[in-house]
Amino acid sequence: MKFFVDTGNVSEIEKLVPLGIIDGATTNPSLLAKEGGDHRKILKQICRLIRGPVSAEVVATDAPGMIREGKSLASIDEHIVVKVPFGREGAKACRALSDEGIRVNVTLVFSPTQALIAAKVGAAFASPFVGRLDDIATSGMDLIEQIVEIYDNYEYPTEVLVASVRHPLHVVEAARMGADVCTCPAKVIDSLFNHPLTDTGLARFLADWENAQAELAKTRKAPGAATPAARGTRGRRR
Ligand code: E4P
Repeated sequence: MKFFVDTGNVSEIEKLVPLGIIDGATTNPSLLAKEGGDHRKILKQICRLIRGPVSAEVVATDAPGMIREGKSLASIDEHIVVKVPFGREGAKACRALSDEGIRVNVTLVFSPTQALIAAKVGAAFASPFVGRLDDIATSGMDLIEQIVEIYDNYEYPTEVLVASVRHPLHVVEAARMGADVCTCPAKVIDSLFNHPLTDTGLARFLADWENAQAELAKTRKAPGAATPAARGTRGRRR
């Protein structure tokens, strides 16, 4: 499963990239608005850092506007994937942009029928929002299971991009269901590394090692202790 980072914050991405697990990024108008500044420059910087798919969302609401804006976003960098909101206008825009070879991520997907339509109009990615479904007492992960099944049935090349991820369990379940991508906030990616037994285990290994070294040093320093030289083994190789 690919990991995308869901952020418009360049320094967050700079910290994550060296970990070697980030395959792409997703942004949205809310995330970019939070950063301020020139969104095109930010997107360019993100593309340079990630060197994988970087979703940039249109804000137009009609298909011709989405297509115009999508082409302009795609011209920022070869890694840009144009994000269009699901809907009738989004479907038309997705078809047109995909036919021109521009990759599209259909976002704000909340039902299996919406995901099916996204695949039919040539989306490279469909983004079901699991956290926002959980927020209204509907299982986001059940939706992922259904979409994975539908796409597998017809071998649609559209990738299932699990979005609105809130915690590591979403990631685990997405991976078990065979979702293609999980896009996560930086703090969720960071939490995937953590386990208290890893920390206490490492602390014990290091403490045992230090103790053994200290014992060894004491033996070497003790007067009359048998050293390799005293035993006549200097220079011996085994
Ligand atoms: C994905 O592409 C969206 O930007 C994002 O996952 C939305 O997440 P939220 O529901 O936490 O805002």
